[in-house]
Amino acid sequence: MDRLSNKIALITGSARGIGEAIAELFFEEGATVIVSDINDFGGKAVAQRLGGRSRYFHLDVSIEDEWRNVFGLIEKEYGYLDILINNAGIDGYPQTKGPHDPENLDLESWHYVHAVNSDGVALGCKYAISLMKKQRSGSIINISSRSGMVGIPRAAAYASSKASIRNHTKTVALYCAQKGYNIRCNSIHPGAILTHMWDLMLGEGERRIKNIQRMNSEIPLGYMGKPIDVANAALYLASDESIYVTGIELTVDGGILAGSAAILSRDK
Ligand SMILES: NC(=O)c1ccc[n+]([C@@H]2O[C@H](COP(=O)([O-])OP(=O)(O)OC[C@H]3O[C@@H](n4cnc5c(N)ncnc54)[C@H](O)[C@@H]3O)[C@@H](O)[C@H]2O)c1
Repeated sequence: MDRLSNKIALITGSARGIGEAIAELFFEEGATVIVSDINDFGGKAVAQRLGGRSRYFHLDVSIEDEWRNVFGLIEKEYGYLDILINNAGIDGYPQTKGPHDPENLDLESWHYVHAVNSDGVALGCKYAISLMKKQRSGSIINISSRSGMVGIPRAAAYASSKASIRNHTKTVALYCAQKGYNIRCNSIHPGAILTHMWDLMLGEGERRIKNIQRMNSEIPLGYMGKPIDVANAALYLASDESIYVTGIELTVDGGILAGSAAILSRDK
């Protein structure tokens, strides 16, 4: 219950899903948790439910001014930050008009997905480094995806943006090591984790049940993961137990990437 005691953690996109599970687990483990999101209603509800050491800040990760503002507030109120979880991310389906295949992609939609997923992580790393270096310690955890390691024919921008997170994580890890900042940076690569992100793809009712069964059958462990599975991986990388771990990519995917990486459904 105290693997993160006395630590301050900022978690982006934590109004629901994986970010919410990370916020809950980190709080249980003793951290002061700063919930942030563009969904103010959901984010405030999470912070209120946790209570005590938790609070909510609005933060759209694609906007640099908002990062500057939130880090100004953190520095003023707490003076330091131990952990940043760059979790906010979108697949682009409900948020943009698309399409998202490489032959027909809509450039505006492509840019928007990259603005949230890639720019958001790069900005988070930038501001975290500037604050964490003052105390000469910190852990930055970037939520990439298994889609950052394989091609995804119908989600080109998502896959490309997640690949950029995978690579940038290693650059940040090496940069901070070179500078002697004692800031670690690692990426997590979830497979299929059952959250609202899947709602559009899974559909509703009978169709949803069938689609989940199909997904399960394509995962070596036989089932889709839960947000807590990713939160447990984040806890390890956030805690001092991983003090000698930087620049790694930790897959949390039920074994998908252990074998044939891309399951191809062929169009006629
Ligand atoms: N669910 C999966 O199967 C899966 C797999 C691999 C990677 N991931 C990654 O995990 C992360 C969390 O995914 P999830 O499944 O919990 O998704 P989710 O859609 O349930 O939650 C994402 C949260 O991010 C917030 N958000 C969206 N745009 C934002 C912005 N510009 N600034 C700040 N917050 C923003 C949303 O409001 C939401 O609360 C994402 O980066 C996602 O790509 C998820």
